[in-house]
Amino acid sequence: MSPKLLCKTGIKSLDDILSGGIPSGYTVLLAGSSGTGKTILTQEFLMKGAKIYGEPGVYVSLSEAPKKMIANMENFNYFDPEIINSGQVRVVELKSEDGLRRGREPEPERILRTIRNLVEDNNAKRVVIDSITAICRALKDEAVIRQFITDLADSLEVLYCTSILISEIPPREIAYSVFGVEEFVSDGIILLGEFERKGDLLRTLQVIKMRGVEHPRNKEVMGITKNGITLMPMFKAYGE
Ligand SMILES: Nc1ncnc2c1ncn2[C@@H]1O[C@H](COP(=O)(O)OP(=O)(O)OP(=O)(O)O)[C@@H](O)[C@H]1O
Ligand SMILES: [Mg+2]
Repeated sequence: MSPKLLCKTGIKSLDDILSGGIPSGYTVLLAGSSGTGKTILTQEFLMKGAKIYGEPGVYVSLSEAPKKMIANMENFNYFDPEIINSGQVRVVELKSEDGLRRGREPEPERILRTIRNLVEDNNAKRVVIDSITAICRALKDEAVIRQFITDLADSLEVLYCTSILISEIPPREIAYSVFGVEEFVSDGIILLGEFERKGDLLRTLQVIKMRGVEHPRNKEVMGITKNGITLMPMFKAYGE
């Protein structure tokens, strides 16, 4: 068997857990409730992807305006305005005319085409969709959602583009998605969580699945620092 090409996330401790990175072309679900760090983690994935590995990336936002997202990124040391200005990382808002018209039937083919065109036009090797939950909510029907994610994953794989689909889940619930189908069509699942300790709400990260990769499934304590995401095994941090 030939070795898999890897898409290094650039977050060293996460790449170590994944034995090097995410297999290139994979579709990974990043699940977590509000404030668990989904946006910050994926922004680092794209910025470092462009800066360190020369891989262009696209951030498809359905909730936050690109200007605001870029302004938030500026707080981190890995932020480089040149990466944004040169278009190596593009932050794009998926608009109603892209197949998500308010009050009308959503058009999965049109949403898919928009995302695929963005990836192709930018020669992107990394794409983040924030969030897949918002698209699923518009699509409503389970069979349509399953088909949409399968088609999305297939079309990105042939473009050698690794994707992270953000899944918004309610806090402290044992679920990876709202519709329950997203996790089965994804190649990998990374779960962000939180737990309370002495009145402090700490963040956690856990790799639940990564097809074809041998990886630990323990919870890591996740920190958000100016240098980006940090991870430390829970037993090391707290002896638990
Ligand atoms: N510069 C920073 N340094 C440390 N922590 C930060 C910094 N900026 C933001 N945070 C923390 O990150 C949290 C937001 O993270 P992020 O936006 O990635 O969450 P999210 O999972 O995307 O949430 P949502 O589902 O609401 O979009 C903030 O609530 C704050 O606690
Ligand atoms: Mg977010």
